Amino acid sequence: MEQYIMKGGNPLVGEVYISGAKNAALGILAASIMTDEDVVIDNLPDVRDINVLLEAIAEIGASVERIDRHTVKINASGIKEVSVDDEFIRKIRASYYFIGALLGKYKSAEVPLPGGCNIGSRPIDQHLKGFRALGAKVEIVKGSVVAHAIDLVGSHIYLDVVSVGATINIMMAAALAEGQTILENVAKEPHVVDVANFLNSMGANIKGAGTDVIRIRGVSRLHGTEYSVIPDQIEAGTFMCAAAATRGDVMVRNVIPKHLEAISAKLAEIGCEVIEFDDAVRVVGKPRQRSTNIKTLPYPGFPTDMQPQMAVTLALAEGTSMVTESIFENRFKYVDELARMGGNIKVEGNVAVIDGVPGFTGAQVEAPDLRAGAALVIAGLAAEGYTVVDEIGYIQRGYESFEEKLQSLGAMIEKVDSDREARKFQLRVG
Ligand code: EPZ
Repeated sequence: MEQYIMKGGNPLVGEVYISGAKNAALGILAASIMTDEDVVIDNLPDVRDINVLLEAIAEIGASVERIDRHTVKINASGIKEVSVDDEFIRKIRASYYFIGALLGKYKSAEVPLPGGCNIGSRPIDQHLKGFRALGAKVEIVKGSVVAHAIDLVGSHIYLDVVSVGATINIMMAAALAEGQTILENVAKEPHVVDVANFLNSMGANIKGAGTDVIRIRGVSRLHGTEYSVIPDQIEAGTFMCAAAATRGDVMVRNVIPKHLEAISAKLAEIGCEVIEFDDAVRVVGKPRQRSTNIKTLPYPGFPTDMQPQMAVTLALAEGTSMVTESIFENRFKYVDELARMGGNIKVEGNVAVIDGVPGFTGAQVEAPDLRAGAALVIAGLAAEGYTVVDEIGYIQRGYESFEEKLQSLGAMIEKVDSDREARKFQLRVG
């Protein structure tokens, strides 16, 4: 099983280029099947979740042509199936976007319920509430969502929970419904706005994405388009925390600074120097960084997907920090792993109380999920000695060329898949 092995202690210094946003690209790829014309999407991140979704799109009959590593041309005129194969669903959660896309275009969809993720139960009741409000009959049959509609008719929908997935999924179905849909209490994440902009580039009529109310006027069809995915705010934030935790100096390039404001503000609060440019942010870590408190919230609040990475940074700050995870109920699984490196964090319900320590020592740890895995790599790069991170498949789901980008910043890290390779790394770096 592949692992990351690293020797910590080097401050990360230099510049790193951020890839396209995974969570925008997943919605955009699903929406691309809503037209029978060519759709070209670039700045796709080359990560496992994207590649699995592309396989699923090909599997139902669309043509998927890789133009280059980050660009794909999709033509969905050949789709024969509105039933998506179970094999793909289990691999990624965002396959639920097929329901909104297929229901919108074909008025019919059959998609296995996505696997529960290990950061919480992650129900999709709000998605189904929206589809039903648009006039679809939605049932759960043998573990699959089966949705059909004679017609989809616009409706006034108020989400009970601010949900990125439900906002995007209902927006897709409503784009081809008759009449106006008003969607309230919606998610405002940059990736929600990106999917709305993508749909509008296909001829949809969506207004208000990024605010609390989205108004959608259904159109009869969508046409082809060419579109570039926004940069990934969470990948960018991950490298910003890596710079802070290793007391480095990193220019994070190809970002939209506004999307990073909550992260920049918190790093500045603990004493980092954070300098914003048009499409870059520079983070300079300081030898003594202060504690602070974090509460994860829907955008523009502090992102839940940055909670583990920030917690690791706070675990190396002076003083006691409180991190409240208000979005998911099980997103502190990295705490036990970090304890093996000397981290001092106590979890009480959805609050982690972090007592900063002067430093970590390397250990063998296991990635429990995507963002916690990235956080453990950050901890290993800041630690004294060697760290091995297992289960790095989670990390590869959401970070393109993770170890290469870190190596370009001076990190001593390698991907290995045997003890022998790990020993060679240790001999080489000494
Ligand atoms: C998206 O997940 C992201 N995934 C997650 O990123 C991210 O953590 C999350 O949004 C929040 O920002 C993708 O975009 C593929 P939600 P999603 O629906 O859409 C509850 C990563 O690391 N809820 O906004 O599944 C839910 O239980 C991943 O890249 C309902 O109760 O998240 C959670 O408590 C991890 N009913 C809260 O809402 C529903 O129908 C937010 O979930 C839907 C959600």
